Amino acid sequence: MAPLYIVMLGPPGAGKGTQAKVLAQSMDLVHVSTGDLFRENLKNETELGQLAQGFMNKGELVPDDVTVRMVEERLSRPDCDKGAVLDGFPRTPTQADALEVLLENFGAGVKIVPYIKVPDEILVERLSGRWMSPSGRVYHALYNPPKVKWIDDLDGSQLYQREDDKPETVRHRIEVYKEQTAPLIDYYQEKGILVEIDGTQSIDDVAEDLRQVVEEA
Ligand code: AP5
Ligand code: MG
Repeated sequence: MAPLYIVMLGPPGAGKGTQAKVLAQSMDLVHVSTGDLFRENLKNETELGQLAQGFMNKGELVPDDVTVRMVEERLSRPDCDKGAVLDGFPRTPTQADALEVLLENFGAGVKIVPYIKVPDEILVERLSGRWMSPSGRVYHALYNPPKVKWIDDLDGSQLYQREDDKPETVRHRIEVYKEQTAPLIDYYQEKGILVEIDGTQSIDDVAEDLRQVVEEA
């Protein structure tokens, strides 16, 4: 069977990571988040991590060529044989074109693009209350709190706030999203594979809508 690829689209804080994790698990696919991959590289002090850090802390995009190479490498690993839920990639039309070529080589294409739509004022609130675990699990102080404050439910590690979740950086990330990533809404709409999801609902209700949309695709 050809591998299955789903692209989660939406602004910073829309809930892409939260939902991609659940969806990938339920479909036995791999969750591939370019943000997580860059942060992992940063933690391991790789050259790629150091390069990415400068862009990430400013809320800018990491250059396309570097990002595409990283995704190519990740999607070529055997654990992605059945496909992947892509989160935070593609983020520019150039990246989307590169993804298409890459997936053609795997005899596949993007199956569906759920676009999680959330207005700006809610995004700022979500990101300022976000708590992350070192292994990438995502919590929110109010909307998805851990059992014990600042402690990961599963492995007990200390939660932290992302460097780029400061309000001024968040505002810049939203601008960058509008300029460079929002054109992908039309890009995928023209291909007939974009489906809009109301991201202002609760995490469970968004997950339920997403499940239905993917099932019908
Ligand atoms: P990345 O890590 O991808 O960040 P982002 O796109 O800005 O998105 P976020 O991770 O901030 O938000 P999310 O949609 O995943 O929301 P989440 O589920 O966490 O990228 C970071 C940086 O890396 C970029 O700025 C760039 O520098 C670089 N980069 C990454 N990919 C790149 C690429 N392809 N090209 C170039 N550069 C790239 O949810 C947010 C919060 O809200 C959480 O606290 C969560 O608990 C809560 N929440 C979620 N859903 C709900 C809900 N329905 N109701 C209430 N609360 C909710
Ligand atoms: Mg994320």
